[in-house]
Amino acid sequence: MGPLIQCHGIVKIHRSGGLDGANRGFKAVDDVSFSIEKKGNFGIVGESGCGKTTLARAMLYLDPPTSGGVVFDGVDLGSLKPRQLRAFRRRMQIVFQDPHSSLDPRMTIYDSLSEGLINIGMDRADRTKKIGRLLDLVGISGALSSRFPHEFSTGQRQRIVIARALTMDPEFLVLDEPVSNLDVSIQAQVINLLLDIKEELGLTYLFISHDINLVAYMCDIVAVMYKGKIVEQAPTEELFANPRNEYTRTLLASVPGRSGQIDVSSAATLSSADREKTAPAVQGLSKGHVVSDITSRTGDKPDLTEGTR
Ligand SMILES: Nc1ncnc2c1ncn2[C@@H]1O[C@H](COP(=O)(O)OP(=O)(O)OP(=O)(O)O)[C@@H](O)[C@H]1O
Ligand SMILES: [Mg+2]
Repeated sequence: MGPLIQCHGIVKIHRSGGLDGANRGFKAVDDVSFSIEKKGNFGIVGESGCGKTTLARAMLYLDPPTSGGVVFDGVDLGSLKPRQLRAFRRRMQIVFQDPHSSLDPRMTIYDSLSEGLINIGMDRADRTKKIGRLLDLVGISGALSSRFPHEFSTGQRQRIVIARALTMDPEFLVLDEPVSNLDVSIQAQVINLLLDIKEELGLTYLFISHDINLVAYMCDIVAVMYKGKIVEQAPTEELFANPRNEYTRTLLASVPGRSGQIDVSSAATLSSADREKTAPAVQGLSKGHVVSDITSRTGDKPDLTEGTR
């Protein structure tokens, strides 16, 4: 089918002045390349602080890469003028971890979902229809759209954030730890909702998590990120059956109740009813399980680049 998005050698350096006024810079993403097929479901897994969010923001040019580039559907995003990029960005949306900070507490759900649609000149009747349809898709009654975010649970809020991400009819969704703030029981529901939406709308996903169980359940291809680099990338089952990289093996071995083995039995191809039954108790690694040394990429760790395929 061909790639929808290709990242070439993305580097992102965070500039922040030190106490002595020096501006050292910190390479949060270090020469990352990968591509995602149209309608693919690509996962990135890695510990807290390894650069996942930085990479996602760089890919969408919310915070452009320091070097390297991104080609989306044949268009080099780095070549676009700010105005062109804004228009282009409708095709790529991102859902972040925290639905509380993603929704403006002073705006009704209807107004939050209307914003983008007003920008593209959609009239009120069409907006109302579209918002009703999207809320229905994520399992929220359209009758509740005049309510404010605080009137919803965290899980419902994340559903609303997902609906908002869909208002622009994007082709590509980045899901950055979309369920990490949710209770375990709710996590499985939202994950299955995301898989259903993907199927129904024919979307392409980049799914980001520190939880390898979750990534395995969601994604066809998994890239393992460690200290700013992708150290291994493989189809999910292959990665689990034959992890080549030492860090990947460490990740797999540290999943509670598993010894480097996981039954991924192509969960992504199950019907939604089957998925409901097989949804994992999504726990995996606890957040902050391993925290990277944020001042240096050259610690006492072994060379972890051997397994890139
Ligand atoms: N704006 C910034 N300025 C300076 N350093 C930053 C900035 N944003 C992130 N960092 C640093 O870059 C590194 C990567 O951060 P990032 O948020 O991308 O990691 P992450 O993998 O998304 O972590 P988490 O799983 O906790 O969300 C971290 O060491 C972080 O402290
Ligand atoms: Mg993050």
